[in-house]
Amino acid sequence: MRVLLIGKSARTDVIAETLVRSRRKPVLFAAMDAENPGVMRRSKEFCVAKTDDAEAILAFAERVEPDFSIIDPEDPIAHGVSDALEKKGIPCVAPSKKLGQLESSKSFARELLRKHGIEGNPEYKIFSSSKGVENWLTELLDAKKGFVVKPDGLTGGKGVKVLGDHLQGVEDALAYCGEVLAKHASVVIEEKLEGEEFSLQSLTDGVTVRDCPPVQDHKRAFENDEGPNTGGMGSYSSGSVLPFMTKEDAEAAHAINQKVADALRKDTSEKYKGVLYGGFICTARGVKLIEYNVRFGDPEAMNVLPVMKTDFVDVCEAIINGTLDETELRFENAATVCKYAVPEGYPAKPIRGALLEVEKSRARHYFGAVSEKDGKYVTLGSRAIASVGVAPSLSEAEKIAEEGVAAIKGPVFHRRDIGTQALINKRIEHMKRLRKNG
Ligand code: AMP
Ligand code: GLY
Repeated sequence: MRVLLIGKSARTDVIAETLVRSRRKPVLFAAMDAENPGVMRRSKEFCVAKTDDAEAILAFAERVEPDFSIIDPEDPIAHGVSDALEKKGIPCVAPSKKLGQLESSKSFARELLRKHGIEGNPEYKIFSSSKGVENWLTELLDAKKGFVVKPDGLTGGKGVKVLGDHLQGVEDALAYCGEVLAKHASVVIEEKLEGEEFSLQSLTDGVTVRDCPPVQDHKRAFENDEGPNTGGMGSYSSGSVLPFMTKEDAEAAHAINQKVADALRKDTSEKYKGVLYGGFICTARGVKLIEYNVRFGDPEAMNVLPVMKTDFVDVCEAIINGTLDETELRFENAATVCKYAVPEGYPAKPIRGALLEVEKSRARHYFGAVSEKDGKYVTLGSRAIASVGVAPSLSEAEKIAEEGVAAIKGPVFHRRDIGTQALINKRIEHMKRLRKNG
């Protein structure tokens, strides 16, 4: 069994680990944009290439002849790498470019839900010019709703601007819409939702949709949810629901993912094969959809893959062969906490080129934006090394994750509050308040 894995992040590292621990003993080949010490260690062979360049990936794939490929990040999917591999007879755990629009186009996702009557959309409008934008912004404000402005394209997680956070009023929003429309074909402006966010990562063969445990990420750089937004500073999971969620919330999110897989099949006659990541928010009016990703979350992959009990290679094969209905997806009944060590100055002015050392601890470490030099790790500027604790309780998992970050020596910082009871209580109280008032 030969597997080609495409990606370079800590998320790719955990995918590699999960493949390698399969009883099927797959041999791993990796293609990455920059050397990732974790992925390299777990692979038989690797190449450094532009992973959104289908030709470069095909050249490597034709040489290593994988039985299948897993495309981790969204960029190669948006650039047609899955289509190119499939065309050469290499099946992919990743959707086609067309279905990848679910992430690469915010309007595609919103319109799909609307067209098929799938619940979960906030109020929204799509604009391809600034005509009507001011009216819509004012209408939302008059209805005592805030607004969120979203470029209709991939922006590396940095394009969404929210009233109160990045935008102070209509004037700011108009200026930002102008900027967006200069670069993108359209802009989505939607109602600002209030609540607690969670990610539901489902695996699907396009027909059957199987869920991983829900996870809550923490986007803000600093403790107490302060500071600028980041790719995600850490995350936690606690089995089939999170402490602020009800079982009904998890079921509602599952139903939306299932209906989306069905709607895509109906509209395109194509089956969505891969990871369907629904970014949801529990609100006073039930579960709403924030966005879709067509891949695992980073850090959320590190909460679910380490506790996956079903053999991941079997799952990948079931996704490819369309037999996921015959495969259960089981997880250990454990809590997980993931904390990222990020370079000092991150995200605005991260220290690059600083040396890190990693000592042994009870935590698992996954390597992100670091290269390796003489047994040490060199920071590259983005989230460096993730530390993951897995334990029967959240408090124990949090302690282990802390031990793991303490074992990373060098100029990095992390959020101590992620996974702590104090922060989780705040989330629970927030939801209680919203549900009572709503
Ligand atoms: P995205 O790039 O789509 O993941 O959005 C980034 C972040 O913006 C999300 O994680 C949310 O915190 C926030 N966001 C996006 N859409 C909304 C919305 N309709 N209401 C409130 N917050 C939102
Ligand atoms: N943690 C959010 C994401 O992966 O997009």
